[in-house]
Amino acid sequence: MKIAILGFGTVGSGVYEIAKTLKNIEVKKVLEKDLSKINIATNNYDEIINDKEIELVVECMGGLHPAYEFIMKALQNKKSVVSANKAVIAKYLDEFLKTAKENNVEFRFEASVGGGIPCLAGIQKIHRIENIDKFYGIFNGTSNFILDNMYRLENKFFTSLKTAQKLGYAEADLSADIDGYDVTNKVIISFALAYDGFIKNEFPCFTMKNITKEDILYFKKQGFVAKYIGEATTKGNEYEASVMLNLFPINALEANVLSNYNIITVQSYTMGEVKFYGQGAGKLPTANSIIQDILDIQTKISFNPISIEKKYTYSSNLFKHKYVIRSNEKLKGNFERIDRDGNNFYHYTKEITQADLLKLVEEKDYLVVKLSEY
Ligand code: NAP
Ligand code: HSE
Repeated sequence: MKIAILGFGTVGSGVYEIAKTLKNIEVKKVLEKDLSKINIATNNYDEIINDKEIELVVECMGGLHPAYEFIMKALQNKKSVVSANKAVIAKYLDEFLKTAKENNVEFRFEASVGGGIPCLAGIQKIHRIENIDKFYGIFNGTSNFILDNMYRLENKFFTSLKTAQKLGYAEADLSADIDGYDVTNKVIISFALAYDGFIKNEFPCFTMKNITKEDILYFKKQGFVAKYIGEATTKGNEYEASVMLNLFPINALEANVLSNYNIITVQSYTMGEVKFYGQGAGKLPTANSIIQDILDIQTKISFNPISIEKKYTYSSNLFKHKYVIRSNEKLKGNFERIDRDGNNFYHYTKEITQADLLKLVEEKDYLVVKLSEY
């Protein structure tokens, strides 16, 4: 099968490297701005679109535009598309699936969640037998790398962040990794496969960049490790989801997920808990997921068709949880406990809803952490 790669950065070059080792995939063209990167590069997308031999396009440029237009154009020209670009998929998945179906081609996106971990395929397989109760996990390699470096090596936030960037884990827009947009996108994509519905970016997302070395050390003394968690569950046609730091006891599996690794847990009746674990970011693991999608398309292995027609409404009152809010002043409110550590006050809430939590923190720049129930 002849393919084209859009974007020859970390992921695109990884796809090229693995494809070179396989007899049945030939990379015919690469779309890049910098033509000196590789001898098959072009900066004219029409050369790819008009090439009848190219059956499949791999999109790994990132960003919303022109990624959206390029994906749509490929599908409309009857070329299957494999993409790693969470941002564009979380926004336009409905259009991509519809256009692929109309043109009798495939749109696949395993690499967009969990990098090298086949977790979307896993979610689809569980869901073709039964309903999924909930999913939660560490969905971002960069933020996990930072938290792990702060916890184990006691490095500062920005020193750890610079290393994650050098290793190719971070997004071009860093805020996506540390302010939670990347995890939000991955929750939206996973939700689509777990619950057959396309939700919007309307659930709470708390940044992880407010966490300091002092917080990590305080939580360590309490027997907790902080991890950045995305999660979602439904009740009827309402759903609850969030992206925020969670505290895990030190012996929990999540607490021991190191470096750029991710762990995504899916709960259902017959399976109980299934945990998908592996490298959630990086050149070759992510490229491996892309190549797996290409091979599935080539060999016409197909999971159940993806349907995202069900409608869900976000509710901030569905369930109650316990949270810790850290500020440098004592807050008013009916807390279960307040600890003082240096200049920091740690307020432990009773079981409250997301709506109550949002009222308590009122968009202030506090550190907000959930006490994990897992
Ligand atoms: P990257 O290293 O920045 O690579 C993107 C490449 O695409 C760059 O070479 C860029 O060129 C090129 N590009 C961007 N816009 C272009 C355009 N309009 N025409 C031609 N070339 C263009 O990014 P990456 O880390 O490989 O990530 C790519 C995508 O994969 C993103 O959506 C990301 O979220 C996703 N992803 C990444 C990872 C990971 O571990 N890195 C894992 C899973 C998914 P310039 O640099 O010159 O702009
Ligand atoms: N920047 C992302 C991460 C890449 O660190 O998880 C993988 O999606």
